[in-house]
Amino acid sequence: GRSVVTLDDMPLGCIVELLDRASYISGHMRQVAHTCDGRVLATLFYEPSTRTRLSFETAMLRLGGQVIGFASAKEASASKGETVSDTLKTISQYADIATIRHPKEGAALVASQAADIPVINAGDGGHMHPTQTLADLETIRSRRGGFKGLTIGLCGDLTFGRTVHSLISTLCRFGDVNFVLISPEELRTPEYVLERIKASPSCSYLETDDLDQVIGDLDVLYMTRVQKERFFNEDDYLRLRDTYILDLDKLDKAKPDMAVLHPLPRVNEIEAGVDGDPRAAYFEQVRNGMLVRMALESALLGDALPGYEEGKEVRA
Ligand code: CP
Repeated sequence: GRSVVTLDDMPLGCIVELLDRASYISGHMRQVAHTCDGRVLATLFYEPSTRTRLSFETAMLRLGGQVIGFASAKEASASKGETVSDTLKTISQYADIATIRHPKEGAALVASQAADIPVINAGDGGHMHPTQTLADLETIRSRRGGFKGLTIGLCGDLTFGRTVHSLISTLCRFGDVNFVLISPEELRTPEYVLERIKASPSCSYLETDDLDQVIGDLDVLYMTRVQKERFFNEDDYLRLRDTYILDLDKLDKAKPDMAVLHPLPRVNEIEAGVDGDPRAAYFEQVRNGMLVRMALESALLGDALPGYEEGKEVRA
């Protein structure tokens, strides 16, 4: 029950509570430095990562705990054929909490069912990336003061982008969001995600392939990478990868307070020149990724944050 495979089954109050914990931690890094003394986090990464793995690890280190793990399937006994279930039964003997990234959808659920400790999904194939969504929500909330009434553009690979699927699903539960889904025909949003929007009476969406035409309407622009690793065919990847490139000329047409998010890594889709624009929020989003993981790790372990009172930080 204490694992986090998706945010879809987490009450909205708990999500807001985690964001509040993250905001509190941000201003009290020294006070929380011993919250998880003696705890051990295991990071089980069967797929490459820079931000997610290192922020989960930094989060535990900054809370006073320690970290074990592997950064690729090659360096673990998965390379000898060990199952995810057996790996989690083993890790449960060593660690207090684990996080797993795996190329197969459903791997995090399997891991959580086999483990005796809380397991956090760090991305399972094209399915879900719940802690990225927490980082995205915290960034949107701090830039825009909340979620309601916003027009949020999501641009790029909307078919395979698990960060997009997680974020849309959660925002639909908060409600009152207008989604602008910007992608080439081949990389459109899957039907099951559109169904989530349709099922939320206060939300709406439009699909387009033209970023220039809609950028002026957006409060948030969430750019994504066309993901080479999800394509079967190299030619398709090469044809689609540079469809959208955000540069300062394009940004000229956007509102002065629009926030640009990107889960990163980027390839070409945001020019480096955009980084200095006040609308660029993606490195703030990276920091929020560490803060929400500190919030989640301490909450799942039941470790109280010194000086923090539940419900006191509400800003959403
Ligand atoms: N945003 C994200 O998941 O980045 P990494 O793949 O580097 O972890």
